[in-house]
Amino acid sequence: MPTNRTFTMLKPDAVEKGHIGAILEKINAAGFKIVAMKLTQMTTADAQAFYAIHSERPFFGELVSYMTRGPIVAALLEKDNAVADFRTLIGATNPDEAAEGTIRKLYAASIGENAVHGSDSDANAAIEGAFHFSGRDMF
Ligand code: RTP
Ligand code: MG
Repeated sequence: MPTNRTFTMLKPDAVEKGHIGAILEKINAAGFKIVAMKLTQMTTADAQAFYAIHSERPFFGELVSYMTRGPIVAALLEKDNAVADFRTLIGATNPDEAAEGTIRKLYAASIGENAVHGSDSDANAAIEGAFHFSGRDMF
């Protein structure tokens, strides 16, 4: 996958609250092109694998329960400098620390339930995109 791509999930809390449309509007307004997208639900094994890097953290069980409790929107996004620019658009992990106008400031409830995921590197964007999409579903 080219390095001008990042991977995102609109997490179960954002979907439950009806924020899919508003968040996608902000993503579009910030200049990202959607190159893959679906509504899906992660299994426990999916979430444990996706967030394996956090498996020793005290919040891992809560994180897996949260990410599997309902549907998510998974999407691949394209833009110059996609990974860094998307992390700026979503804001800090903890919404109390997120900048005004960021997606997490607007829509996240807490550090645990924070509305949206963004890849933290080009390498992880490629891995995460391939986790959720087959080649024929990436445009
Ligand atoms: P993400 O991977 O979802 O984009 O979030 P992030 O990079 O901003 O934060 P990361 O450190 O990778 O944490 C992954 C997700 O775990 C949950 N979390 N809960 N209770 C807590 O202290 C805590 N810390 C992290 C959040 O859902 C966070 O997005
Ligand atoms: Mg992360």
